[in-house]
Parts: sequence; C-alpha cells; structure tokens
Amino acid sequence: ALVVRHRMRSSGRWAKAMAILREFEEKCGTPIGKLRQVADAMTVEMHAGLASEGGSKLKMIISYVDNLPTGDEKGLFYALDLGGTNFRVLRVQLGGKDNRVGKQECEEVSIPPHLMIGMSDALFNFIAEALAKFVATEGEDFHLSPGRQRELGFTFSFPVRQSSIASGSLIKWTKGFSIEDAVGQDVVGELTKAMERIGLDMRVAALVNDTIGTLAGGRYYNQDVIAAVILGTGTNAAYVERAHAIPKWHGLLPKSGDMVINMEWGNFRSSHLPLTEYDQTLDVESLNPGEQIFEKIISGMYLGEIVRRVLYRMAEEAAFFGDSVPPKLKIPFILRTPDMSAMHHDTSSDLRVVGSKLKDILEISNTSLKTRKVVVELCDIVATRGARLSAAGILGILKKLGRDTVRGGEKQKSVVALDGGLFEHYSKFRGCMESTLKELLGEVSDSIVIEHSNDGSGIGAALLAASHSQYLEVEES
Ligand code: GLC
Repeated sequence: ALVVRHRMRSSGRWAKAMAILREFEEKCGTPIGKLRQVADAMTVEMHAGLASEGGSKLKMIISYVDNLPTGDEKGLFYALDLGGTNFRVLRVQLGGKDNRVGKQECEEVSIPPHLMIGMSDALFNFIAEALAKFVATEGEDFHLSPGRQRELGFTFSFPVRQSSIASGSLIKWTKGFSIEDAVGQDVVGELTKAMERIGLDMRVAALVNDTIGTLAGGRYYNQDVIAAVILGTGTNAAYVERAHAIPKWHGLLPKSGDMVINMEWGNFRSSHLPLTEYDQTLDVESLNPGEQIFEKIISGMYLGEIVRRVLYRMAEEAAFFGDSVPPKLKIPFILRTPDMSAMHHDTSSDLRVVGSKLKDILEISNTSLKTRKVVVELCDIVATRGARLSAAGILGILKKLGRDTVRGGEKQKSVVALDGGLFEHYSKFRGCMESTLKELLGEVSDSIVIEHSNDGSGIGAALLAASHSQYLEVEES
C-alpha cells in the first residue's frame, strides 16, 4: 500500500508539473494571426515614432547616416564596439573599390561586471586603455597618411539621442548596464575625455548603434541591404527610410533622400504580445522595469532566465526535481542562453547534455530521461516564441517599406542583414525565425533574403568613420 501511495503521489506531482508547462505553452502561443497583429502594430508604432519625438514606445532614432558605404572608402580606420558582455576593437585598412578591405585586425576584451554598474569614468577609462594598448600594436601593414590623426567609428549599442553623426546623449541603459552618471551625457565626449586623460590621440568620426553599423557593413558588400537586425544579448533593428517620410526631421533634406533609422525595437510593446506571469516578474525584478519588453521575451540576455523561472515554479509547486527546491535554481540569470541552447540541441538518445548541464549549473543530479525531455520542451517553447516574434518584427519593417507584397508584378529584392550571438549560435532559434518569416511572406518570400553579416557592425563603424573623416573635404576639393 505504501508503494502504491508513493506512486500516486509522484504521478500527482508529474501531472501538476505538466499542468504548469502546458499553461505556459498556451500563454506563449504565437499563431500566425497573432504574428500578423504584432507586425501591424509594429508598423503603426513606426509611423507614430517617426511623426513626433516621444510619439511612440519606438524611439525611431535619427542616426544622421544619410549615405551608406559605396566601396570608395579609403585609409586606415579604427572601430570600437561596446554593447554586450564583451567589447571589441578593430582596425582596418580600406583600399577603395578595387581593394576593399585590405588588412584587418580585431581584439575582444571582456568587460569586468563591476564596470557595467559603476561610474562612467571607470568604464570609459577601461575602454580607452584597452584601445590605446591595441593601437600600440599597429604593425607595418597599416598605413596612416602622414600628418593625420587616427579616426574611430564608435559603435555604442544603447539608445542614444544623436545630435550629429559624431555626438549624442545616452537616453538610458539596457541589457544589464546601469551607470547612472552617464545617462544624459554625450558618450563621444565621455570617450574623448578618457582618451585625452591617457594621451591617446584619436578622433571619433562616427557614433553609431550596432544595428546601423551592421546595416553599413551589410550594404558595403551587398547593395540590396535595406535593413539590419541584431539578435544577441539584446535585440534591435535599423532600416533605410525616405527622409521625407520622417515628419519629425526638421533638418535639410539629404542629397540621397535617405535617412537611416535606429528603431530601438527592443522597447516595442503591444497588447498582442504573448506575455506570461514569468515575463512580468522577470520585468519587475529587472534593472529596467517596464522597459524593453520585446527584448525581454526575445533576446539572449533573457531566454535562459525565463526557462529558469518556469523550472523554479515547477520545482516549488510540483516538486519537479524532488522534495526540495534545488538551491541554485533560485539564482537569477544562473542559466544562460548558451546553456539553454546546448540543452535544446541535445541529440543524444539519453539527453546527456541536458543531464550534465542540469548537474553542472544547477547541481541537480540523477535526472530521469522523462524529466530531461520536459526541460528540452521548455527550451523549445521559449525559443520558438522569441524566434517567431522576431520574424513578425521583420515583417513590420517590410510592411512599412511596402516590400511585403508584390507590387506591379515586379519583385524587388530586399536583403536584411542579421547579426548577434543568438542568430549566429542558436541554430534552432535561427531556423525557426527564418521559416516563420517565409510562412508570413508567402509568395514574396523568395525576394526577401536574410543574410548573416558577420561582424558587420565593426567594419560598418569603420566605414562610416571613413565617410565622415575630417580629411574628406580636403581630398575631394
Ligand atoms: C539593446 C540596445 C540597442 C541595441 C540592441 C542590440 O536593445 O538598446 O541599442 O541595438 O540592444 O545590441
């Protein structure tokens, strides 16, 4: 009788755990009709954000980039890419139409976590020092024309209110950064001061978001690139808008007629988004409550954390991992998205990767195959929702540009440049995003191309530094 009672108890637990999973799955649902509503809402918000400053949750930031790379860019340029857990420095010798990117070198430095939530000076000093060290290793393959100052494209991947191509003030931090005294400051000014403090002679020629850099890098190799999307620690998109379609732009109409817009779509929000109680508490307990809601259900910083939250509920309410809740499971952000991805892609028959991740990260040992299968299913639910919503976001942009349908029988080719760790390394996420976009586009899907723009953002920033070089006017006249 004892054995039977025990079995019943454990099957009751299982049923409860499954009920939690199924309810979560249902709330995460993204049927095609819902995705269309999300895409429509995105298009509506794009219009509102372009109409007036503060007109929408979508900031639709004017980048001051009105010309994208042509291939003519020449000379030695540096780029600095700050925006995730790592920052990168890069130098590239641009050779013009015939030689394109000659020699190129890059270095990645991880940012000590305490600098992400400290003081502005400390962060910028750290960056300037790393940059100076990198400059000191410049070899003979690189040539700076005599008498010239080195120039830099600064990719700063946070919302910035630009005041020109090479200046702009930080609106707010996202993605786990929180350095209060930098908010409202001109980030180029901050970097320049730090470079001066250590005697590094370098001029910031362009300040760009990573989406803008990716768009520029993508366009350099493919003239059909019209938009760029980042799916990484955070998520965002940029695209080429017609300047006359930007009512809030009061400057001169650029010669090209174009203006690149940094959407900051991570902050998109709509009643059509499938949000769950787990997303709500994640948001409330985050560094930026109420903000970046789209980002919090799509991007790499958060996917693993959502999985952890659901597992925690299952452990607490359904004793999913045994009688007590595994202590490690209580720690926010302990389950990172790369680990979630590794579990999700486990193809072994006994799901041994899942088993070892649960053991190594959460200290949960001896999990049954049945339990592991549930963990994989949970990863699938969370990744699928994010991937499908990002496809809906892309459809929103194509709609705004009128490229989502066949017009006048003519198919116009549109390329969207993509980058970011989530896109690059989480293949099920990427696959799902791509197939969802196909499904949404129907007959036009063969004229829309998703292209991986590998580190386009670094090269892109260097290219934009080149086209905004202080020496350009001199050369052209
Ligand atoms: C966050 C930032 C945005 C950036 C994106 C991807 O959403 O606010 O500026 O482009 O992350 O890195």
